[in-house]
Amino acid sequence: MPADTLPDIEITTEEYERVRKLVYERAGINLGSNRQHLVQARLAKRIRSESFAGFRDYFRHLDSETNNEEITHLIDAISTNTTFFFRESDHFDFLAESLVSRIKSEKWDEKQYTLRIWSAACSSGEEPYTLAMVINKILKEYPSINAKILATDISQKILAQACAGQYDAQKIKSVPDEYRRHAFRHIGKSSSLYEISPEISKYITFAYFNLMTPQYPFKFGFDYIFCRNVMIYFDRPTQESVINRMAQHIRPNGYLIVGHSESLNGLRHKLEYVKPTIYRQKG
Ligand SMILES: C[S@@+](CC[C@H](N)C(=O)[O-])C[C@H]1O[C@@H](n2cnc3c(N)ncnc32)[C@H](O)[C@@H]1O
Repeated sequence: MPADTLPDIEITTEEYERVRKLVYERAGINLGSNRQHLVQARLAKRIRSESFAGFRDYFRHLDSETNNEEITHLIDAISTNTTFFFRESDHFDFLAESLVSRIKSEKWDEKQYTLRIWSAACSSGEEPYTLAMVINKILKEYPSINAKILATDISQKILAQACAGQYDAQKIKSVPDEYRRHAFRHIGKSSSLYEISPEISKYITFAYFNLMTPQYPFKFGFDYIFCRNVMIYFDRPTQESVINRMAQHIRPNGYLIVGHSESLNGLRHKLEYVKPTIYRQKG
């Protein structure tokens, strides 16, 4: 039967509460009580595409599986992945200015330094690729400095898109001209698709990572952590514990940058406030 002739798939309040609890426990995402319609619409797509009979059948399957595969799809379906190149562009201006000043004051160019940046909820890749464009331009003047960007997300589906690094012409419009030429290659003459060039992608490693992980496993600290537009979905206690885990992995004088609609106001942490949305590890 074609999808549009299937009867409506409705989620009961009890089933919605189950999804809410599951998504909160696994991903820290706090759905609130008024997202029932949104969740119904997003999961109904999944239920149809996998030919479950309805929500009851879907939950039976979730209960029976041992490998957590469907829970991963459920979180994929629920999470919001909106992002774009040079989003909240003042953060990239701040990165460029502070990076040049730190290279000079901390003499990174004299000691084979490896600059490390973490894009902690990278979605479809626009944020880490933007970071790479900015540092690529600066590091041309400092060839002895190495750079690595770790880009992570909880959604396997969105990570696959990020790794592919292919974007429609419309999407790359927000990239300033000075970067666009080096950063993208047109794929085929007749398509409107562009792919990220190796000059930019060479800095980035994409990986699955859930910010709810109790102990972050990183061997190295980061000079910059960009954790933007994800904590808005977390409640205050979750935000506080995520910030404190991140802070343990920021190098002295390193920065944590959060989204414009996020704030660490009222959360207990040891980072210094620099200006709205920007925090620093003491030197
Ligand atoms: C709105 S996007 C933000 C993308 C980018 N940082 C930006 O500001 O444009 C939020 C991303 O957070 C991811 N996410 C949600 N919960 C997460 C968690 N617990 N751990 C890691 N990533 C998570 C989602 O999959 C989604 O890709």
